[in-house]
Amino acid sequence: MQAKITALGTYVPERIIDNHYFENIVETNDEWIVSRTGIRTRHFAAEYEYTSHLCLGAAKNLVEENNVMLDDVDFVIVATVTPDQTMPSVSTQVQDKLGLRHAGAIDISAACAGFSYGLILAQGLIAAGTHRKVLVFGAETLTKFTNYEDRSSCILFGDGAGAMLIEAAPKGNILGAITGSSGDGGKELYMSNMRKQINGQDIITDNKIHQNGRAVFKWAVNTITAQMPILAERSGLSLADFDWFIPHSANLRIIEALCTQTGFPLEKTLESISIYGNTSSASIPLALHRGIREGKVKKGDKIMLIGFGGGLVYAGIGLEWAV
Ligand code: ACO
Repeated sequence: MQAKITALGTYVPERIIDNHYFENIVETNDEWIVSRTGIRTRHFAAEYEYTSHLCLGAAKNLVEENNVMLDDVDFVIVATVTPDQTMPSVSTQVQDKLGLRHAGAIDISAACAGFSYGLILAQGLIAAGTHRKVLVFGAETLTKFTNYEDRSSCILFGDGAGAMLIEAAPKGNILGAITGSSGDGGKELYMSNMRKQINGQDIITDNKIHQNGRAVFKWAVNTITAQMPILAERSGLSLADFDWFIPHSANLRIIEALCTQTGFPLEKTLESISIYGNTSSASIPLALHRGIREGKVKKGDKIMLIGFGGGLVYAGIGLEWAV
């Protein structure tokens, strides 16, 4: 059996925050944020709203919009770096609240590449024949881990969740995949309450997000431009064959740079950064769902999605949209 994506759902918290909100917190302004990042708004989770709640919102939306049942889901994967707590996992909380009585459940940590990794793992479980119906989430409450004294990072993050159902089918729709990591860059983007050093460099242990934006920006552009043609080839296609490219929405300028350097048309990219900010593992499903709701993505379209972020780590898949 092969893996087929059969449904998508998303959820963002109600509270919308515009750029002016930050003008009272740090020295910044709307013009800088829009021109340097492309972000205009983001959503903040309420005090009582955690990553598991956002997952449940995305699952509810998936069921409502796709008219599917989740009863026989046999594995739940939640990609997140902002879990409700370290233990129990978000995935077990979601499994319980959704009443998926016999499902396996794991959380995976791959930052903004987490959703792509989740899809690749789901595909592997189905191809191995051990599972038939896997629910994959990318979900974050990054604003609970944001350092509001750092103007270069606090303006970036938003909260949200995406959910995808992957089922066993005679003909799948995942065409190819790439994965990779550069652990030596771990010190450039981290969140820690334990370690004192990463790669010999002192780190701050306040459990907030710390980022060397320029270093991550450069690594992302260099790495992902090199990986795009490789993913196309593994998908049995050329780059030009793809109808849509969905890179992780970290910064609109990164998306523009990827297109300039590879010649891929910018108008064939989908993004969630402008209205949701950087939502890490949720950014790709949010961008895809936005593209579907706006009538851009159609059944049969070839889509390349690539996540990249803290680790440093990346993963991507080529797929043919079949929902
Ligand atoms: N408002 C006004 N000025 C600011 C702000 C702000 N919010 N933030 C920084 N500045 C200033 C800096 O102090 C600096 O001033 P200086 O020249 O006087 O020293 C100037 O703007 C330029 O600063 P840079 O840090 O070089 O700004 P840059 O253009 O690189 O933008 C940003 C910063 C947005 C963080 C960018 O580097 C970026 O998006 N990097 C990539 C992030 C990424 O991909 N992360 C991975 C995924 S996230 C995850 O895994 C959770």
